[in-house]
Amino acid sequence: MQVRTAVRKAALAAKLGLVDQTKLVTAASEIARNTLDYGKGGTVQIERIEAAKTGIRLTFQDQGPGIANIDLALTDGWTSGSGMGLGLSGTRRLMDEFQLASKPGEGTTVIITKWSR
Ligand SMILES: Nc1ncnc2c1ncn2[C@@H]1O[C@H](COP(=O)(O)OP(=O)(O)OP(=O)(O)O)[C@@H](O)[C@H]1O
Ligand SMILES: [Mg+2]
Repeated sequence: MQVRTAVRKAALAAKLGLVDQTKLVTAASEIARNTLDYGKGGTVQIERIEAAKTGIRLTFQDQGPGIANIDLALTDGWTSGSGMGLGLSGTRRLMDEFQLASKPGEGTTVIITKWSR
C-alpha cells in the first residue's frame, strides 16, 4: 500500500479531522520522498496513540548518508539538491510534534505526531 493511503486510513481511524488528515498525509509524503531522494529508501512505522492524548505518530527511518547540519536542513528554502527546500520546514509547521535525529554516516530518523485530541 502507498504511504499516503496507509496514513490516510490510520488518520481517519484515529478520528483526525479532515484538515488534520490532509496535513498528516502531506507531511508523510514529504518525509517519505526525502527518504527516497536522499536516504536510499527507508521504512515507515505508523502508530496509533491512545493515551491521555490520542493521535497518529509516524516514524521514518533510513540508512542513507545522514544530515550534517540539521539547522540548515530545517531552514525554509534550503536544499542540497534541486528541491524547494520546504519539505522538512513545512512538515514541522504542519505537525504537533516533530523530531529529527541524524548523523553523517548513520542515517536519518524523522518522527512526526498529529493529535486528534
Ligand atoms: N532522509 C534524508 N537523508 C539525508 N538528507 C536529507 C534527508 N532528508 C532531507 N535531507 C536534506 O535536507 C535538505 C532539506 O530537505 P527538504 O525536504 O526540506 O527540502 P528538499 O527535499 O531539498 O526540497 P523539497 O522537499 O521542498 O522538494 C535536503 O535537500 C537534503 O540535503
Ligand atoms: Mg524534501
